[in-house]
Amino acid sequence: MRIARDLPTLRAELASLGPLALVPTMGALHEGHLSLLAAARQEAPAVAASIFVNPLQFGPNEDLSRYPRQEARDLEMLEAAGCDLAWLPSVEAMYPPGRATTIDVEGAAEGWEGAARPGHFRGVATVCTKLFQQTGAVAAMFGEKDWQQLQAIRQVVRDLDMPIRIIGCPTVREADGLAMSSRNRFLSPAERAQAAALPGAMQAAIAAMARGATPAAALAEARAGLAAAGFALDYLALVEPETLRACAAPPARLIAAARLGGVRLLDNMPA
Ligand code: PAF
Repeated sequence: MRIARDLPTLRAELASLGPLALVPTMGALHEGHLSLLAAARQEAPAVAASIFVNPLQFGPNEDLSRYPRQEARDLEMLEAAGCDLAWLPSVEAMYPPGRATTIDVEGAAEGWEGAARPGHFRGVATVCTKLFQQTGAVAAMFGEKDWQQLQAIRQVVRDLDMPIRIIGCPTVREADGLAMSSRNRFLSPAERAQAAALPGAMQAAIAAMARGATPAAALAEARAGLAAAGFALDYLALVEPETLRACAAPPARLIAAARLGGVRLLDNMPA
């Protein structure tokens, strides 16, 4: 596996690789990322992964400084997964002094995470646009776990006529149903045992609606159950899958964000 840490090296390495599919990551890799790498292999003859903890997508009071970093282990995992190129830019390489351009997304990026984390999707859209430009990837893989992020990136690619296919890949879950996330490691053992109640409550709400319960009643029951289980719920809502506009009833996407201790968990499911 080739490794590039600056743009001249990246460009030199790209010159000898064919069309590539990119897996953008912030590192702290887990099985979910590996599933994206496997899917990338189906999209292009070469596979690249980026590891960059993007300061632009963290708010001032968020967890940038404590975001997990494990570069040596990540590189071993990428190598073992058959990744051809690892792109590990420094903050200075990604955002040289004097930079003055960002990408602002409206539409799918509004509300929910966009409201809870002002500036977050600007940071995501800006770094993804740069990663797509830097690598010239023909496809990029994103987990459905971050559903709103996936739709926001699709919006950017559509709006800016970018010649890249955005591929959403199914959420990879732990045996008890918890969606895999690099931040799950911050859950205490007690919180970790409790965390699967989030997807559990979502599934129960979806099943209740399928049996004829009203969305209002099904979601109210899920909210009450989650509060009793110790979650501080930011939102649990039915939305139109592509626009993320709130909607009254299925077919829809059920999206949720909830805090358990100091960890904010996100999940979503078709409903
Ligand atoms: O989902 C992530 O890990 C990040 O938001 C991404 C897409 C790599 C951009 O920094």
